[in-house]
Amino acid sequence: MNIFTKFQSYFSLIKPAIFREKQKLQNTSELLTLLRQKEWLPEFHTITTAGTDPEVIIEGKRILMFASNNYLGLSTRPEVIEAAHKALRIHGIGPGGSRFLCGNIDLLSELEQETAKLVGMEDAITFPAGYMANTAIFKALLDPLIGSSPYRKGSAAIFSDEYNHGTIVEGCRISYAKKISFCHNNMADLREKLSMSSANPKMIVTEGVFTPEGEFGYIKEVVAIAKEHQAILMIDDAHGIGVIGKRGEGTVAHFELCKDVDIIMGSYDKALGGMGGFLAGKKEIIEYLRVVARPYIFSSALSGVLAGGLIEAIRICQKEPELRDRLFQNALYVRQELTKAGFSILGTPDIPVVCLLIGDETSAVRFSRALFNRAIYCPSFRWPAVPRGKSRLRITLMATHTKEHLEQLLRAIIAVGKEEKIID
Ligand SMILES: Cc1ncc(COP(=O)(O)O)c(C=O)c1O
Repeated sequence: MNIFTKFQSYFSLIKPAIFREKQKLQNTSELLTLLRQKEWLPEFHTITTAGTDPEVIIEGKRILMFASNNYLGLSTRPEVIEAAHKALRIHGIGPGGSRFLCGNIDLLSELEQETAKLVGMEDAITFPAGYMANTAIFKALLDPLIGSSPYRKGSAAIFSDEYNHGTIVEGCRISYAKKISFCHNNMADLREKLSMSSANPKMIVTEGVFTPEGEFGYIKEVVAIAKEHQAILMIDDAHGIGVIGKRGEGTVAHFELCKDVDIIMGSYDKALGGMGGFLAGKKEIIEYLRVVARPYIFSSALSGVLAGGLIEAIRICQKEPELRDRLFQNALYVRQELTKAGFSILGTPDIPVVCLLIGDETSAVRFSRALFNRAIYCPSFRWPAVPRGKSRLRITLMATHTKEHLEQLLRAIIAVGKEEKIID
């Protein structure tokens, strides 16, 4: 090969790469330009105090926080911090690697047992993020591992509620299984799609609590349909754990459906105030996940500090139902006052998140900015997290918000609502 042909073949190899790179950069700048033009670019404020507290300091200003999922205030509870400290002194800040290679610290096993007991399942497996739990499960359960075991490549189908969280969407994409989305909470649609499918196995996934809609998933109905079609059933209960039920056991145990649900997914960074995620289910399924779930094998474990703090958080969550009472009272008060003021509030009062419908993306961003100028932190939820034209404010209440915090929130929302002509 002479130098010219060598150069030509080299060029033909890199040309598509240059083109792809150019296209990639073009997409990046186009997207940023679009977001800037429409004023949809999110602002990443710098918080210099605990971001999970009801009052935070942002850029030197005292601001009330209505975006944190620390529903019960456990993130900064002195007992939780003390337990985390104790674990920190023993285990340091990091796990050193995956449990597959580095072994298993006692606190992680204890956390898994306590988690399983909380949600009413036989066993649980933990991950450093709920995101990882959701990206682990579909591939692990539905794709071939050895030969065609457990299932032939692509033979399975996942029936997923159209409003399921992005991490579920991501997990479904990673698996070879066919993805079939059904209309949100629409049981007739789910039934019809299952009946029309010849996939084997079939798996249904929905959420216990859909916070952007402020409503429950129809899990009792989904359980019945899963039985009819012998489908594997998974419930993502990230926002139900710690919040729903007398002990904070979550939607599945609260509605006495533990025997009918195969997998519960949960996140430790919401009501339990920490970080990480878990999958809970029958012992055999969890044992299987420990040897096939790729994020469990190829990524470092949840840290001992978090495990120590979370064990204490689970203990408090179960023994202090008054935290949930306060949380629900706060949510109910805000919902009632905003409804009285003329706003359109989505969902049910049985969920401690108040979703105020705004509609247009630009108005939602403007609304949230105007609130920030009145010392209220409450970002808007907009496309692609929710459908286009259905932007909303998701007001996340905590047990630790006081009456004064709520009054300040209401005054600000009503004033901005009038300015923006959303209410009279
Ligand atoms: C319904 C739902 N599932 C899963 C997740 C992901 O959990 P994590 O934040 O622990 O990664 C979230 C996080 O917001 C969620 O809302």
